[in-house]
Amino acid sequence: MKKQFSHDFHYQILFGFATVERKWRIPLVASSLVSVILFLVATLTLRPSSSSGSSSFLAFRQTLEQRPLFAEDMTVEQQQRSVQDEKSPVQQPAPLPRLAYMISGSKGDYEQMRRTLQALYHPRNVYILHLDLDAQPRERLELARYVRSDPVFIEVGNVLVIAKSNLVTYRGPTMVSTTLHGAAILLKSRKDWDWFINLSAADYPLITQDDLLHVLSYLPRELNFMEHTSAIGWKEYYRAKPIIIDPGLYVGKKSDIFYISQRRSLPTTFRLFQGSAWTVMSRSFIQYCIMGWDNLPRTLLMYYTNFVSSPEGYFHTVICNSEQYRNTTVNHDLHYIAWHTPPRQHPLSLTLTHFRNMTQSGAAFARKFRKDDPVLDVIDKQLLGRQPGKFTPGGWCVGTSPDEDRCSVIGDTAILRPGPGAKRFEGLIVSQLVPATFRANQCVLPEDRRVLLRQQSHRSPEVGSKQTSRLFS
Ligand SMILES: *[C@@H]1O[C@H](CO)[C@@H](O)[C@H](O)[C@H]1NC(C)=O
Ligand SMILES: *[C@@H]1O[C@H](CO)[C@@H](O)[C@H](O)[C@H]1NC(C)=O
Ligand SMILES: *[C@@H]1O[C@H](CO)[C@@H](O)[C@H](O)[C@H]1NC(C)=O
Repeated sequence: MKKQFSHDFHYQILFGFATVERKWRIPLVASSLVSVILFLVATLTLRPSSSSGSSSFLAFRQTLEQRPLFAEDMTVEQQQRSVQDEKSPVQQPAPLPRLAYMISGSKGDYEQMRRTLQALYHPRNVYILHLDLDAQPRERLELARYVRSDPVFIEVGNVLVIAKSNLVTYRGPTMVSTTLHGAAILLKSRKDWDWFINLSAADYPLITQDDLLHVLSYLPRELNFMEHTSAIGWKEYYRAKPIIIDPGLYVGKKSDIFYISQRRSLPTTFRLFQGSAWTVMSRSFIQYCIMGWDNLPRTLLMYYTNFVSSPEGYFHTVICNSEQYRNTTVNHDLHYIAWHTPPRQHPLSLTLTHFRNMTQSGAAFARKFRKDDPVLDVIDKQLLGRQPGKFTPGGWCVGTSPDEDRCSVIGDTAILRPGPGAKRFEGLIVSQLVPATFRANQCVLPEDRRVLLRQQSHRSPEVGSKQTSRLFS
C-alpha cells in the first residue's frame, strides 16, 4: 500500500518539475513542490507514532538535532538556525543550499580536473582544488593560472587552489588528512556552505548543479550521505587487524604503505564501520570532525593512522559511533560506481555501455572516467547541456550575445532551472528516505540485524517493514 502511494505521489511530483524556474524567497506556486516537502516530512519523522503527516518539518528538524544541553555542544549553525526556524513558516520555498566541493587529482590530472570543475561549476558553491605532490609543478602552475584568469572565477571568487600540496598515499591516512585539510580551509574561508562533497578529477556529474541544488533545498541540512556497513567480513582480517605505516606522513617521496609484522585485535571501545570513500557530509558533521569538541573524531583519526584503506572507514566509524550524528546518516553515496565481478581494488572505468544504467541510477555523480572518454561528451550533450570547454549552463547564465558564452554574464544565482536530472535525482533521494530504507539502514550493527530478522520472520511482510522503521527510530 505504501509502495502504491509513493509511486503515485512520485509521478505527480515529477510532472511539476519540468518547467520550474524558481527564485529564492518568492512564494511557491507549483503545488507539486509543496507535495515533495510534505512527502519528506511524512517519511522523515523520527517517531512513527506521529507520522500521520501532520507533524511539521520543523518538528523533524528539532528531534533530529536535539537541542544540546551544554553550551559547547551547540555549533554556530545551530544557534543561527534556531533563530531562523522560528521565523520561517513551513510553506515558504526551501532556502537554497550551498555546496563545498573538494576536487583532488594527481600526476597528469590537470585537464581532467578542469573539465570536472567546469561541469560542476555554479556561482553559489565553493570549490577547492588539490593537485597532490606527485603532480608536476608545471601542472600546478597551469591550474593556478587557469583559476586566476577565468573571468567568472575572478568575478565570483569561489574557486580556491591549495598551494601547499600534500603527498597522498592511496589507501593511507594521508588521504584522510588531505580531505580534512581541504574541509578545514573551506570552513575557514566560507561560512555559508551546507554540504561538503569530496570528488576526484576522474568523477563527473550526471545532473546539473541546478538540479542538485533544487532537490537538496528540500532536505534537512543535517543529513550525511555516506554508504556504510558494519558487516566488514573478510576485511576484518585484511584491514582491521594488520598494522600499516604510511610513509607519506614523514618522507617527501611517494611510496605505498607498508605492513608491520604484528597484528592488533579489534577495538572494543567503539565499533568499526566501513563503506564508500565518496561522501556528502553536512557542515555540522565536518565541524565536529575538524574542531573536535568531542574527542571521538580525534581518537579515531589516530586509530585509523595504521589502518588499511582508512578513507573507506574513518568518517563512517566516526559518524556511527557518535550518538549525536548517527541518526543523520543516509546509507548512499549519491554516486554511480560499477565494479568488476568479483570486485577488485579499483572500480571499472565507465564507458558508453554504462550510460543507460548510469542515467537510470538517478545518481548525482559517477566514477571513474578515463580522460576524454567519449561517454563524457554524451553526458555533456544529453545530461548537462554543456558545450566543450564551457560551464554547465544554469539559471545564473544570462548572456544574450550569440557569439559568446551565456555563462560569461552572471545573473541572479538564486534562480535555478532544474531539468530532467532533478527528477532522476529526486527519485533516488525519495527511495533512500522512505522510512523503511532510511531508518533501517542507519549504522546497523550485526546484532541489531539478527534481532530484526527474527522479528520479521514472525510477521507478514507488510507489518514487517513497518516494524523495521519502528525498531530503528
Ligand atoms: C576523498 O576523495 C578522494 C579522491 O581524490 C578519494 O580517493 C578519497 O578516498 C575520498 N575520501 C576520503 C574520506 O578521503
Ligand atoms: C545494467 O544494469 C543491468 C541490471 O541491473 C545489468 O544486468 C547490466 O549488466 C548493467 N549493464 C552494465 C553495462 O553494467
Ligand atoms: C537517535 O535514535 C535513537 C533510536 O534510534 C534514539 O534513541 C536517540 O535518542 C536518537 N538520538 C538523537 C541525538 O536524536
